[in-house]
Amino acid sequence: MLSVGLLGAGRIGRVHAQAITAHPDSTLSAVSDAVADAASQLAGEYSAQVRSSHEIIADPAIDAVLIATPTDTHSDLIEAATQAGKAVLCEKPVDLDLQRAMACQANVADHQKPIMIGFNRRFDPNFSAMKAASDAGEIGKTELLSITSFDPAPPPVSYIKVSGGLFRDMMIHDFDMANYLMGGLPVAISAVGSAVVDPEIGQAGDVDTAVATLTYSDGRIAVIKNSRRAAYGYDQRVEMLGSEGLLQAQNVLENTVIKSTADGVVGAKPTYFFLERYMTAYKAEWAAFVDAITAGQAVPVTLEDGVAALAMAEAATQSAGSGRPVQLSDILKPVAK
Ligand SMILES: NC(=O)c1ccc[n+]([C@@H]2O[C@H](COP(=O)([O-])OP(=O)(O)OC[C@H]3O[C@@H](n4cnc5c(N)ncnc54)[C@H](O)[C@@H]3O)[C@@H](O)[C@H]2O)c1
Repeated sequence: MLSVGLLGAGRIGRVHAQAITAHPDSTLSAVSDAVADAASQLAGEYSAQVRSSHEIIADPAIDAVLIATPTDTHSDLIEAATQAGKAVLCEKPVDLDLQRAMACQANVADHQKPIMIGFNRRFDPNFSAMKAASDAGEIGKTELLSITSFDPAPPPVSYIKVSGGLFRDMMIHDFDMANYLMGGLPVAISAVGSAVVDPEIGQAGDVDTAVATLTYSDGRIAVIKNSRRAAYGYDQRVEMLGSEGLLQAQNVLENTVIKSTADGVVGAKPTYFFLERYMTAYKAEWAAFVDAITAGQAVPVTLEDGVAALAMAEAATQSAGSGRPVQLSDILKPVAK
């Protein structure tokens, strides 16, 4: 039985608490939060202890730590937990700052403990089926990937201000999805962004609508479209065109009923947002982490994957600012320890 300490009892911390306690081979031993009431409430729901992040990391009886705190704390907590010998599952992104994330990677390089980054969409059954079909060559050679990722509504501007910007906070999921499905990194990224949904987002220095184009050394192309607003719900679709066919992962709908009448044909909306759409994926992500730890095998999403996606977000941010493509090799340079 894996004894787990959860750091951060906010939106995503609550989701992970559910996954940890639902798994037959893990138990939620302790919860920490900067706000004592948040920790107490969540710990109370699952009969876990309330402790500080420091106490959880220092406790030799805790095997694994799940980091669900704000992004600017991730690198520090990854380093502290790995140094204390814990296995780590840390939410995306690794950090707001690429240099800090790369320094974290260098600082933990000598530790043998597993570190997994929470790119939950890899564990969505639709996207993993698409990956399996494309890897098996079912559509021949992949040539063009197209990812649509629209949120139902923008977050408060107070969140936008500390989020690191759309490319680091939101499109980072899609950069990782491209890496997962294409089986490697692009060589260059071009991006454009605009604040057409909410001018206040623009005044806060961010964009709410963006497109990135990824080009690969073998000529393949990926296009990612993001918006912070889709009036009909959470739009999460992926399409892969290959030399011998097309793979499409459609939205997951609230129900499967289609009404056809003289007025037209209508169906249900997509499920509202990430908590509804990806609960299966969060549970599968946790199961994959537990399986890897138990079997002593490599985790399926590494710190290196997390740093790569952050470097792509950095490249897209720079490209959107300059209007020029950015070579990933100019961004993703190894740092000395
Ligand atoms: N994978 C996903 O789908 C997904 C979804 C949402 C958020 N996230 C990521 O998860 C992280 C948290 O996001 P959220 O939406 O849950 O934020 P949140 O603000 O709802 O929760 C964060 C919690 O951490 C607490 N906290 C702050 N500093 C702490 C510390 N040092 N130790 C312990 N607790 C601390 C806060 O009080 C808060 O309760 C972010 O990095 C975000 O990018 C990932």
